[in-house]
Amino acid sequence: MAHVTDLVGNTPCITMQNISGKYANLHLKIERGNPAGSIKDRPALYMIEQAEKMGKLKPGDTIIESSSGNFGISLAMIGAAKGYHVLILVDPKTTQANLNMLKAYGAEVIVVQEKDDSGSYHKTRIKLANELHREIPNSFRPDQCFNPTNADAHYNITAPEIASQFPDGLDAIVLAVSTGGQTGGISRYFKEHYPQTKIVVVDAIGSSIFSGDEHGYLLPGMGLSWTPTNIENINLIDEIYKVPDESAFIACRTLAKHEGILVGGSTGASLVAALKVAEAEEMKDVLCLASDSGERYLNTIYNDDWMKSQHLNLKADPETLLKEVKQLTVYSQQPTKVANYKPYLIDTLESPSKQLLFERGSINHIKEYV
Ligand SMILES: Cc1ncc(COP(=O)(O)O)c(C=O)c1O
Repeated sequence: MAHVTDLVGNTPCITMQNISGKYANLHLKIERGNPAGSIKDRPALYMIEQAEKMGKLKPGDTIIESSSGNFGISLAMIGAAKGYHVLILVDPKTTQANLNMLKAYGAEVIVVQEKDDSGSYHKTRIKLANELHREIPNSFRPDQCFNPTNADAHYNITAPEIASQFPDGLDAIVLAVSTGGQTGGISRYFKEHYPQTKIVVVDAIGSSIFSGDEHGYLLPGMGLSWTPTNIENINLIDEIYKVPDESAFIACRTLAKHEGILVGGSTGASLVAALKVAEAEEMKDVLCLASDSGERYLNTIYNDDWMKSQHLNLKADPETLLKEVKQLTVYSQQPTKVANYKPYLIDTLESPSKQLLFERGSINHIKEYV
């Protein structure tokens, strides 16, 4: 008999029919097909299963994580299925829809109110999650921003699955970035097995994963104020883009209205970069990971009143989208020059993944780029 967690992975790929690159077919891997509705089910399940195998997690234990969205929802779903108590630290930016979802799965939610020195809540949330982990007996911290097992999930599962779906190869894979799990794992696998596939990574303007000015942005599920350790070898990235909120949202709304595909903001951002990448003649097949569904953003990206309140363009048609693509320029093709690793954060935030990062040599590796 199947268990709900058996539904994680094996997501379909589709090819866009009305929006295509100048030369390339654009494909989307539809991660909403995972049971809790996003790609984060993959690292959540993988990390939980690894912890179970290592005896770090047994039924009745508490899983503690900092997440404003998808990863927390995935943990809450798996926790409900497997009998774990799940405690998620969110912040005031977390949408009501996500809070409702966490609660529906029975998770306990703490809303962190204090901003960190970058103006976001990431560091405050992570530090508090680590404190709670030390205080609460029988607790497990997946630690998605530092634990390299996050990237391992994509290296061992997502990336081979992609490769098997494109037996004739892919010219480029476009990935949105936050904890670096997708980027770290998929770039490692493809550079080992299919080095000709270009790895294109997309961040939000205002995030400093790849250095640059830090300021607020609206894109959900993207960005961080340092290069996460999950991107253990930044050299494996070929091209980096920083996409404006408005372009990403125009892409989402155009995709919904002209392809019938409802995606989240990070997919919209990836699509803008994919269309840019697809301007090169050699690009025949380009894949974007559609990490979650637009249903999570009906009150924001797909709500005209919200868009107007943020002074964003309501137009949603292929011409407007292509104008946005025209304005986009590559941010960097030399990732080591824009690396923003902050290994001291492992100590400042008291990450429980420190020992693992040392054992794997990750800390020495990233120090080369500091
Ligand atoms: C919708 C969405 N897209 C993309 C990402 C980025 O993935 P990663 O954290 O593996 O870098 C996330 C992460 O939270 C996400 O929720």
